[in-house]
Amino acid sequence: MQSVQAIQVPVNTDSESGSKPYAPACERNRDPILSVLHRVLPEQGQVLEIGSGTGQHAAFFSAALPHLQWLPSDLPPRLSGITQWCDQSGNDKCLAPVAIDLLRASLSLPRSDAIVCINIVHIVAWAGVQNLFKAARDCLSPGQVLYLYGPYRYADRPFEPSNEEFDRWLKVRDPLSGVRDFDTVRDLAASCAFDLSLDLPMPSNNRSLCFTCSED
Ligand SMILES: C[S@@+](CC[C@H](N)C(=O)[O-])C[C@H]1O[C@@H](n2cnc3c(N)ncnc32)[C@H](O)[C@@H]1O
Repeated sequence: MQSVQAIQVPVNTDSESGSKPYAPACERNRDPILSVLHRVLPEQGQVLEIGSGTGQHAAFFSAALPHLQWLPSDLPPRLSGITQWCDQSGNDKCLAPVAIDLLRASLSLPRSDAIVCINIVHIVAWAGVQNLFKAARDCLSPGQVLYLYGPYRYADRPFEPSNEEFDRWLKVRDPLSGVRDFDTVRDLAASCAFDLSLDLPMPSNNRSLCFTCSED
């Protein structure tokens, strides 16, 4: 069940991560996410991760997928923590993180072969989600994928109580955030020439959504 504890906003703890930022949820969800990434990511090239947070996922996925270059990103205050995780992983497939703000006007993303975006769509204002799809369309080529992980609300099934509680919590914290309607996201994707190619249930009432860039 999705819980407020699993919000996955990076926190600092005195855990074994030492002085690095640390989010326990990253440890819990990284293996289920990795199993999907194995299916959807390309066999070579560069993956752009949007909103890398603590950097734990970047360090883990880049080590687990050594055939790929992993480019983490986030807002500027997060970059030093991400750098610590990537440097200490001793893994040269994890590149230096770059600053990307989805709310920036005229957003442009570095050329990549896939984009991974974990627990961002319900955090950033809807304008940021729109920017993400539009910029992804310009960044990716036909056949390449934008992978999203997080909770969604579906029109044809009850909203899970845990996600309902999570949605309320998000909106108190930031009224522009909140669990998005799956149909609205899929429509946005279609308007940017992305086809839904995968929709999988994940632990804690999350989903893995994979959108593939079409010809136009
Ligand atoms: C819930 S955390 C998820 C972090 C990480 N992907 C994870 O799953 O642990 C949301 C992340 O979105 C980032 N974020 C918030 N607003 C953003 C924006 N406008 N553009 C890019 N990233 C943003 C935050 O800095 C934070 O790292």
